[in-house]
Amino acid sequence: MSIEQAYNNWASQYDTNKNRTRDLEGKALRATLASIPFETCLEIGAGTGKNTEWLMRKAMLVTAVDLSEEMLKRARKKVNSNKVEFIQADITKDWDFKTQEYDLVSFSLVLEHIENLEHIFKEAAAALKPGGHVYIGELHPFKQYTGTKARFDTEEGRQEVECYTHHISDFSQAAKQCGFKLVDVNEYFDDNNRNDIPRILTLLFQKSST
Ligand SMILES: C[S@@+](CC[C@H](N)C(=O)[O-])C[C@H]1O[C@@H](n2cnc3c(N)ncnc32)[C@H](O)[C@@H]1O
Repeated sequence: MSIEQAYNNWASQYDTNKNRTRDLEGKALRATLASIPFETCLEIGAGTGKNTEWLMRKAMLVTAVDLSEEMLKRARKKVNSNKVEFIQADITKDWDFKTQEYDLVSFSLVLEHIENLEHIFKEAAAALKPGGHVYIGELHPFKQYTGTKARFDTEEGRQEVECYTHHISDFSQAAKQCGFKLVDVNEYFDDNNRNDIPRILTLLFQKSST
């Protein structure tokens, strides 16, 4: 099943199923970006809008992009503001959905579905103003090494969504090649238990200001 079809199927239960990864990433995004100022945000893989409302409250404008029309349908219902525009698009193609240069490009739980990180960082660099930030909140690769991946249950059985494992160095090297510097890295644990394997990895990169 394609990734687009999988999320179209998952959409009706995405917000209501027990999902520690979804919930912990929401906390991680808020903690990471609380002190970062931005007026314009390009939210990649917005899904059902879990983070869109929070981003919208900080920003003047949010362009929220996703591959799945069914996920976006739910986001449009949840977020009713003329500060947000929702766009259906595939980020593995050219990013012709940009409407301007942004202060922030955010990725929450989407890059595990993308094989080629170089293309993504190249497009993110082109989408950002000088000095702009890239936020990444992902299922931690350590979790992926143990077999955890995006999945949901249906009447026909468990559906797994196509995923790629990116090591921490894969993110940092791809970002470096596109002129970003790493300004923050953090790990989030279930129940804050730091003896456990971390569930969420966050990375914050900044584009050079010249
Ligand atoms: C696990 S959901 C995360 C949604 C939301 N960001 C959150 O944290 O709850 C992953 C999202 O990435 C989107 N996605 C996957 N591949 C994509 C692609 N190639 N282009 C755009 N969006 C994509 C899916 O449609 C899905 O909505």
